[in-house]
Amino acid sequence: MAVSAMVSSLVLISTVLCVGKVYTASVDSCPMYGCRPSGTFSYTLEMTSNVGMAWPRSFIQGPLTNSLGCAANNVNIVCQAKGLQHLGYTTLNPDTGMACWYGDVLKKPTLPLMDISGDVIGTDGHNLVMFEPDGKIVKPQINLQDKLYPTYSLTLSEETGIIAIVSRQGLLVTYESNGVPHAAIQFRAEEQRSNGTFLPVAPPVVSGHRIYILTEFRPDYDTQEPNILGMQRLFAIDMKNALDGRLEIAWVYNFENLDPVLPLVGENHQEKRGTPEETRVDSTYGPAPQIMVNGNTNMVYVNLPPPEGATNAPHLLWGFKDEVNGTSPNLIFKIPQSLSNFAMFESNSGDIGADKLKRKDNSLKLSKNAGEASIWGVSINKKQILKLSPEDGTVVEQINLDSVLNMTSSTVTSKLIVARSSESSPDILIFGVQASSANTDDSKNSTNNNSKMATTQNYVVSLIEKTVNWVIKTPNNREVKGQIAGIRRSAVNEADMLVVYTSDSEESEIFGITSY
Ligand SMILES: *[C@@H]1O[C@H](CO)[C@@H](O)[C@H](O)[C@H]1NC(C)=O
Ligand SMILES: *[C@@H]1O[C@H](CO)[C@@H](O)[C@H](O)[C@H]1NC(C)=O
Ligand SMILES: *[C@@H]1O[C@H](CO)[C@@H](O)[C@H](O)[C@H]1NC(C)=O
Ligand SMILES: *[C@@H]1O[C@H](CO)[C@@H](O)[C@H](O)[C@H]1NC(C)=O
Ligand SMILES: *[C@@H]1O[C@H](CO)[C@@H](O)[C@H](O)[C@H]1NC(C)=O
Repeated sequence: MAVSAMVSSLVLISTVLCVGKVYTASVDSCPMYGCRPSGTFSYTLEMTSNVGMAWPRSFIQGPLTNSLGCAANNVNIVCQAKGLQHLGYTTLNPDTGMACWYGDVLKKPTLPLMDISGDVIGTDGHNLVMFEPDGKIVKPQINLQDKLYPTYSLTLSEETGIIAIVSRQGLLVTYESNGVPHAAIQFRAEEQRSNGTFLPVAPPVVSGHRIYILTEFRPDYDTQEPNILGMQRLFAIDMKNALDGRLEIAWVYNFENLDPVLPLVGENHQEKRGTPEETRVDSTYGPAPQIMVNGNTNMVYVNLPPPEGATNAPHLLWGFKDEVNGTSPNLIFKIPQSLSNFAMFESNSGDIGADKLKRKDNSLKLSKNAGEASIWGVSINKKQILKLSPEDGTVVEQINLDSVLNMTSSTVTSKLIVARSSESSPDILIFGVQASSANTDDSKNSTNNNSKMATTQNYVVSLIEKTVNWVIKTPNNREVKGQIAGIRRSAVNEADMLVVYTSDSEESEIFGITSY
């Protein structure tokens, strides 16, 4: 009974997924880490300049230092839980902000995949679990091998419905949407006279049926030979529903071939295991690498800090053009550019019809430039937002946060999000900011006593290109973490919503922001 329920609900997804491009409705809102399989941290959302709290009360739980933020759609909001008992998921009702259920069968999971009917599929690297919209577990749970922990957040191919689990231990495991095992690949290799594994170092991204995985070679026996350590390789792997060759490596790109890494000196090579977070902690490891793919242009972007330990090597931004089923990538550009993270609006070119049905929006011209959306990056010191050309990676515009926000020592604390209200409208940037509160107006009482004593003030900020759209303080001056999920409400009278995860050393607070 439970199994058939799972199959039928997933068949429903597959049906939706298979109807050409209309399936993109399934990535409405922000139902996963990166908000889309492509990892672009983008969504379509209506946001005016007049915003306020969406719920009467925010949701409070224990602190999470490396929260990934939340995933959300019209049915549920799912965040990582941190309570005395609950370490799985905290699921909130978008209408009220009240907790609905806790997915605590999982322990410290990454962000899940959510489908439009409200099902939630999540993993902690030990189990793969599907929850019905009300939190009921769909049996059977799938027990994964030990090799999958720690893992990145789940991703999927919308084209085939295949779900991918990428382990930091060098393994890609795939499941069909009904939970049937599909295939697995281990990134073992013999490189430069040493056996080892290419370990994934960034959240994987998917376009069509192709998954892109950025890795770094790790010899089995850590010889600390400079020419082995830190070799970086991008894998493009096709996930197919064929009986044989279900996972096929389409191509690999070795970064060190074009850009030799400088020799290392006596770098003590630490294992990175045990950090299930999506990103390396900056102070420990330096900036984290990131990839994203624009499905409209088939451009693959790689934000590539030097390999671990090779601190003198340049931090580069790479742009590749791939083809559907291409067998090698075309290097389009490679430019020194230090970014802490990036995002770009990914257009749902096929979604216009659905858009029209849903909203009485008059500005529904499909932009010819929809595929040429800019790359938006946060500088390495997090004090600037950079607008970059998607064609050559050059800086088109540099936005100094202090000057545009009239703040002191302001830095970006969250992932950068790019939204648009329609396919062809300007980019709306959404992110968290922490600034010195020395210059803030103290005669105005803030909602909390806290902020007066603190030396920093935390905000959620929205810019339209380089113009301030709105700035609001976080309710209890907690820092904004991870991704800010956007929810596109389906009812005409409901305003779209943002869900913000904030945390300090004592508590985390999740709140909603909506347009008035
Ligand atoms: C790597 O492993 C293969 C297969 O086990 C073995 O034949 C080969 O000698 C190994 N190479 C090194 C350098 O250890
Ligand atoms: C790409 O490969 C898939 C699976 O083999 C196939 O179904 C599809 O038609 C191919 N697309 C193109 C454009 O070649
Ligand atoms: C910037 O902030 C300062 C201090 O709060 C204020 O005096 C000044 O008028 C502000 N400038 C602008 C352009 O808003
Ligand atoms: C600020 O708060 C204090 C006490 O909490 C109150 O006496 C004062 O009137 C408030 N000031 C303003 C401008 O609201
Ligand atoms: C402000 O904080 C102080 C010290 O923690 C506390 O004694 C006081 O009651 C608080 N005031 C308000 C209005 O919350």
